[in-house]
Amino acid sequence: MSKTPWTASQIPSQAGRRVVITGGNSGIGFHAALELARRGAEVILPARSEAKADDAVRRIRQQVPDAKVLPAILDLASLASVRAFASFYAERFAGASLDLHINNAGVMALPTRELTVDGYERQFATNYLGPFALTALLFPNLKAQAGTRVVTVASSAANFGKIDFNNLQSEASYSPMWGAYAQSKLADLIFARALQRRLTAARSPIISTSAHPGYAITNLQANTNGFILKLMMAILSPLLSQDAAGGALPTLLAAASPEATPGGYYGPGGFQELKGPPVPAKITPAANDTVLADRLWSATEQLTGVKFDVSAIRPL
Ligand SMILES: NC(=O)c1ccc[n+]([C@@H]2O[C@H](COP(=O)([O-])OP(=O)(O)OC[C@H]3O[C@@H](n4cnc5c(N)ncnc54)[C@H](OP(=O)(O)O)[C@@H]3O)[C@@H](O)[C@H]2O)c1
Repeated sequence: MSKTPWTASQIPSQAGRRVVITGGNSGIGFHAALELARRGAEVILPARSEAKADDAVRRIRQQVPDAKVLPAILDLASLASVRAFASFYAERFAGASLDLHINNAGVMALPTRELTVDGYERQFATNYLGPFALTALLFPNLKAQAGTRVVTVASSAANFGKIDFNNLQSEASYSPMWGAYAQSKLADLIFARALQRRLTAARSPIISTSAHPGYAITNLQANTNGFILKLMMAILSPLLSQDAAGGALPTLLAAASPEATPGGYYGPGGFQELKGPPVPAKITPAANDTVLADRLWSATEQLTGVKFDVSAIRPL
């Protein structure tokens, strides 16, 4: 990578490119959507409600009056909603029409264990199962050509995560941050890397990259009510956090920079990867464990009922 700090001004023109980004109504997803729209991308912005999606579109247009942004509805914690959004997309933009898909939406550290309508633990479902199913269902719409990317937003919490096949849904024990959240984010990173291995094996020109924002002040921290976590955040925030726009830069680099490599993972380059311009991020052995990745992939297909076979799509 070049030695000059990477900023949003280095995003190449996105004119003619169509993007789906989840969680684009808030935090780092909003800033990623804004910058991609500013560079000319057509951004499909699904949120949990029409009001939230419309409001995000309005806020983007305040800054980029001619932005091409389309509001839509998606609840990643419901597999029916994931299927409905994928069908909406496929009907509206038939065929190979998508250049960039960003799995950004997430929830963190819900104080008590909650189950989704599908009966899955809410963080695992929202942060990992839903994005896996959505990527698989949108995959036929991705253009099989160079430049097409899938970006998955993980977290440095993944470094503390463990995939526990006996406790995937936190059914045996629930630990909001370092258990359920960290597991879901490790699953994201494993998925992004496993997807790249499968794309490479299928000789696909599509690439899978991933990113984490470090510590960015967003709505994500709203749920956090554990004493130790609150104390940690009170100490870390003033010195070691960045704003949501800064937190969006690793995602934007992974999504749009020619410097991003197949399977690359990007995060802030400062102390403990908490803030600063984006650079390649640290990857733990668990995220590179191919046996673990294959087992998780199969388990996820079972849990979501969505088969994800990348070799079904061949290069043009
Ligand atoms: N901020 C950080 O320091 C940090 C650190 C590491 C990783 N991350 C990751 O960065 C990503 C973005 O987080 P953020 O910090 O920007 O937080 P945020 O401001 O809370 O944004 C999260 C977004 O995800 C959406 N979302 C939540 N549940 C959803 C669901 N069931 N279906 C669809 N969308 C849903 C939210 O929608 P609503 O507005 O409806 O809630 C919101 O748009 C997450 O994946 C998070 O894990 C953030």
